[in-house]
Amino acid sequence: MINDLWYKNGIIYCLNVGSFMDASGDGTGDFPGLLRRLDYLQGLGVTAIWLMPFQPSPMRDGGYDITDYYAVDSRYGTLGDFVEFTHGCQQRGIRVMIDLVVNHTSDQHPWFQDARRSHDSPYRDWYVWSADKPADAESGIVFPGVQTSTWTYDDASQAWYFHRFFHFQPDLNTANPHVQAEILKIMGFWLQLGVSGFRMDAVPFVIAVKAPGQPQPVEQYDMLRTFREFLQWRVGEAIILAEANVLPDTDLDYFGDDGDRLHMMFNFQVNQTLFYALATGDTRPLIEAMDATRSKPATAQWGNFLRNHDELDLGRLSEDQRQAVFAAFGPERDMQLYDRGIRRRLAPMLRGNRARMELAYSLLMTLPGTPVVRYGDEIGMGDDLSLPERSCARTPMQWSTEPQGGFTKSDKPYLPVISRGSFGYQTINVAQQRRDPESLLNWMERIMRMRKEVPEIGWGDFAILGTGTPEVLALRYDWRNNAVLVLHNFADTAREIALDVAAVDGGSRDLINLLSEDHSHADDSGQHHIRLEAYGYRWFRVGGLDYLLKRSDV
Ligand code: NOJ
Repeated sequence: MINDLWYKNGIIYCLNVGSFMDASGDGTGDFPGLLRRLDYLQGLGVTAIWLMPFQPSPMRDGGYDITDYYAVDSRYGTLGDFVEFTHGCQQRGIRVMIDLVVNHTSDQHPWFQDARRSHDSPYRDWYVWSADKPADAESGIVFPGVQTSTWTYDDASQAWYFHRFFHFQPDLNTANPHVQAEILKIMGFWLQLGVSGFRMDAVPFVIAVKAPGQPQPVEQYDMLRTFREFLQWRVGEAIILAEANVLPDTDLDYFGDDGDRLHMMFNFQVNQTLFYALATGDTRPLIEAMDATRSKPATAQWGNFLRNHDELDLGRLSEDQRQAVFAAFGPERDMQLYDRGIRRRLAPMLRGNRARMELAYSLLMTLPGTPVVRYGDEIGMGDDLSLPERSCARTPMQWSTEPQGGFTKSDKPYLPVISRGSFGYQTINVAQQRRDPESLLNWMERIMRMRKEVPEIGWGDFAILGTGTPEVLALRYDWRNNAVLVLHNFADTAREIALDVAAVDGGSRDLINLLSEDHSHADDSGQHHIRLEAYGYRWFRVGGLDYLLKRSDV
């Protein structure tokens, strides 16, 4: 009996400290500001907060270019403020996860500066060098159109260094035992300060062999077990949630056959096919993706998401599928990024259509795994396409109708607050939505509460039921003799489906609607006939009141 895997039935909320709430009034969000907003997050119902990088950084890649792994950037506060924050979370039963960015450092990091100075530097072998320009220097680029190579010549040391990402992010030589020891030390440090886990950046690249002539990563999976062992020896409940946009046939290499490597991975396969389904109404590729990512160890979990802080990466879709998503959600060149994705936020992509946003979020809550919510999506925040690359979707949180959306007292926020059009703070903000029982925010709070009351989704086995209608996805979850059935209609018109009671039920003829009084009773031949309006969704408990008798925790 596994009772303690908190991440199986949680709701993770991702935010960037600098964008959330500015208490100091200097225009940048900070830990004291975030601390004041913890009651809001608790009220919303999140069970874990994932903080994007907040360590000292020249900020050339949104903080994913770190110069000191053991400190807080002074823009956001001090280590003391950080500990006040983790303590505040602990008091409210919210766990804290932080980004762990150890594939690379900033080129300003003292390790790299020292490594450049001399070939005898103790840090020289912490990075990846080549005396000559490697033949594959233009291969394996992650940000096409912006990044031009993966090797850059360093005048100071008269050698080329490897960088999977931008040239100011030299890769750490993660095969070096000293580097590995340092990574563990970094984890140990933050664990000691109260975090319950790490969102590990760029995992396939962290564990790759790094050397000239390796344009594609060759992974050393054993490293993942070392990370996990260390983590769990230090703090039993701590986890790693991996950013690894990989093909399903390597999933078990990442999770470990025995569940001895990563606890969680983002499900990029489901994410991309989900957007294809939202764009076209065709759920078949999504179903294939769910089947392809079905097998995982019992203790492992998928992290599902809609949008995140990066572009919506559509690189795993076929060309036709990708073009279909572009046409629906990002038709203009300026909305697209890196030849593979869309940089907009969710609400503008769905044109602020409430029914579609509810459909998308109801799916996020009910797909196999644990939902990861992006700050601001709970109120339907928009984007600012005049900002470069991914900054468009990282604008300050919109709290109220006060100047700068109540984010800061400064008139110079570090990124402009969206203040024009239908997504401006005057229209989209927390304060107004909080008072309106029908608002997206209050709907979101209710759906998140319901998600937590349905542990079958996080813990159970799922079956995809045939509906005979490609636009309607029917998922049944079973766990400990309890079952739920969730239906989603991706079409822009109503659909009626018939489900055989035998397929959904172990005897009772009732499907109890968890979100309204609209229950379903089977007809005499045992069929449920359910009409879903355009973009409609239903969450049913299977077996009606029997469930209350069977369930052990009520
Ligand atoms: C993945 C992060 O999500 C992205 O924002 C960042 O630019 C790269 N890793 C490099 O750290």
